[in-house]
Amino acid sequence: MICLGIETSCDETSIAVIERKTDLSLPIILYHKIFTQDEHIKFGGVVPEVASRGHLQILPAMFQDFIDNSKVKMKDISHIATTTGPGLIGCLTVGSQFGKGLALANDIPFISVNHIKAHILSVKINNKIDFPYVAILTSGGHCQIILVNGYNDMTILSATADDSAGEVLDKVARMLNLSPPNGATIEECADEFTTSNEKLLENLFKQPKFKIENTMSFSGFKSKARQFINQHPNILKDDKLKSDFCKTFQVAVFKHIIETTSNSIVKLDGIDTIAIVGGVAKNKLLLTSLKNKIPNYNIVAPPPNLCTDNGAMIAFAGIEKVCSVDNFDTELCATSRSNWSVEE
Ligand code: KG4
Ligand code: ZN
Repeated sequence: MICLGIETSCDETSIAVIERKTDLSLPIILYHKIFTQDEHIKFGGVVPEVASRGHLQILPAMFQDFIDNSKVKMKDISHIATTTGPGLIGCLTVGSQFGKGLALANDIPFISVNHIKAHILSVKINNKIDFPYVAILTSGGHCQIILVNGYNDMTILSATADDSAGEVLDKVARMLNLSPPNGATIEECADEFTTSNEKLLENLFKQPKFKIENTMSFSGFKSKARQFINQHPNILKDDKLKSDFCKTFQVAVFKHIIETTSNSIVKLDGIDTIAIVGGVAKNKLLLTSLKNKIPNYNIVAPPPNLCTDNGAMIAFAGIEKVCSVDNFDTELCATSRSNWSVEE
């Protein structure tokens, strides 16, 4: 199978081609381009209408570039997969209409891909792992711990009751005037940490035990951060304090994810692999802390460029979806959906 994948659910426009051979070796990425819109930085977050207009401009140009410069030709493509949800509805519509048009014009089956499932499966692009495994999905829009038995068999073991971890990292980065305001700049800032503010920050992000079973909560971290920054406005100019704060904040957010994961897997039989996926999985501290705190499991992650939104994971999820059923039929009638649980 050679599948072309299109991703436009938020502010990344991406086209990729993945080949999977019948011998079940790791898939091969034959083509992959990602374009990140930067016009949202000045607004401090993604503006949906601006994002969909951006996809409308860039996607046809990226496709033309693929036609002109890729070694892969349209005649080689066996399937076209596109994100149809969850995400920003205007953005999803641009990508899925483009994908459907291509599929129709070239008489190729169209695969409607769930973006969250694509993140969850992305770990299989570079790791030879089998179902079942547990996935920690931590992105800008979601924070869930999921038991993954196959493309059509996923169960949410735990989810956040409020913000996602990525959202909180983004908002606190904005409070600190980091640019661009996101988890990557928090990580960079935290790398410079010292020990000079240990006492001041010691109990800042201590969470009271969250009482609802199987639930995470991140919005409290955001309020604590806001309070601290209001009480210590010098943090915006004091680079040492900013770095120490970022380090303490990251440690607290990741501790919550890791403790919830430990509690979620304790009763499961037959699981030896935990995958960390989604944009926040790029964070080196999160990956090393997981390996240290949950040592008896094989901890795997996609390579950094496949953690954040990308077309390769969509193409790969398309292949997995087709392989999960006996007779796959084109999904040209699939509609775009802003909400779409992995359990559906
Ligand atoms: O998966 P993704 O690209 O988009 C969604 O599907 O939401 O994830 C984006 C999230 C953002 O919240 C961003 O702050 C976070 O991934 N992120 C990181 C890092 N790089 C991106 N978080 C922590 N450390 C990083 N290095
Ligand atoms: Zn995503």
